[in-house]
Amino acid sequence: MTGFDELRLDGVRRRFGGQDALAGLSLTIRRGEFIALLGPSGCGKSTALNCLAGLLPLSEGSIWQDGARLDTLPPEKRGFGMVFQSYALFPHLSVRKNIAFGLQMRRLPRDEVRRRTDQALSLVRLEEHAKKLPGQLSGGQQQRVAIARAVVLEPSLVLMDEPLSNLDAKLRLEMRTEIRRLHQTLGLTTVYVTHDQEEALSLADRLVVLRDGRVEQIGTPEDLHERPANRHVADFMGYRNLLPMKVKAVHGPVVAVEGSGLTLEGTAVGPLSPGDDVVAGIRPEDLHEGGSGVPVTVEVVEYQGRELAVEARTQSGDAVHLRAATRPAPGDQITVTAAPARVLVFPS
Ligand SMILES: Nc1ncnc2c1ncn2[C@@H]1O[C@H](COP(=O)(O)OP(=O)(O)OP(=O)(O)O)[C@@H](O)[C@H]1O
Ligand SMILES: [Mg+2]
Repeated sequence: MTGFDELRLDGVRRRFGGQDALAGLSLTIRRGEFIALLGPSGCGKSTALNCLAGLLPLSEGSIWQDGARLDTLPPEKRGFGMVFQSYALFPHLSVRKNIAFGLQMRRLPRDEVRRRTDQALSLVRLEEHAKKLPGQLSGGQQQRVAIARAVVLEPSLVLMDEPLSNLDAKLRLEMRTEIRRLHQTLGLTTVYVTHDQEEALSLADRLVVLRDGRVEQIGTPEDLHERPANRHVADFMGYRNLLPMKVKAVHGPVVAVEGSGLTLEGTAVGPLSPGDDVVAGIRPEDLHEGGSGVPVTVEVVEYQGRELAVEARTQSGDAVHLRAATRPAPGDQITVTAAPARVLVFPS
């Protein structure tokens, strides 16, 4: 199958025994896009990917490739490539044969199989390992074989389900760059499943945040990072301080809030009125030690290279997380402030 301009998921729903694993995903994927499906364990990421791949029939909804209906086609007719968390390589075939397998199945001429396999080997930098069996490779190398095996077929869409989760931290970073590089060089369209928000933010053009089978937000990394739509997305995007508070006053988009031992000004996310119960979301790096701020007591200080991560307690006993440039001692009283633009106030 050749490429497409867009792939449209229209109310894609999948139930298991009366329970929604995916409760209506609508999304248009444009050619060349890198989409990340992000969310905690059990939120429906793999279900969404498997529906797209054709490995799971839909309970409701439809999938369209340009004008043509796709969800009624079997997986092999969709022309997609898949990379799984478990690499699913053939253990008895060499690296080269693993990569060439799909091309041979398509009965391509021998020269072309060789040329494209060589190219794929070099793309994932495994030329020197071509003759080895998967069992003789490291985890990262095996994962690269799995990726090469998928992209060698020049699929119109590459689907990856947590492809890096079996790798150690350093290799994960390397492979992350590798995947983005391949996506760009080969002009791929990619849907990538992960529960790691950093991975999703760094790789994707757009992210789909799922929770309990529902879409919480779809947007660019900047959208999600700067303007999470609700407290659940905020929680996922590193707003580690999510403090229950009450609205004291509303001045346009700026709201004064109080609670959890803090008095702050923040930016309203949605309409709010005085007296409303809210959750104030603040990233640790946006909560600073400051002269005229709110007093808190330092409890735990962690060295993090450039900065120190501090957990402190407000006078009402609520924990807050912040960053400090100089090392405070446990038991120290410090004051904290945050810029109103960096405090997001969500209805609770
Ligand atoms: N074959 C199945 N039979 C019954 N329930 C299933 C099946 N597959 C998935 N589910 C349920 O559907 C929900 C979503 O599962 P899914 O595998 O899509 O989650 P996920 O987001 O990929 O999670 P993880 O990050 O743990 O892989 C879960 O509650 C899961 O238990
Ligand atoms: Mg999964």
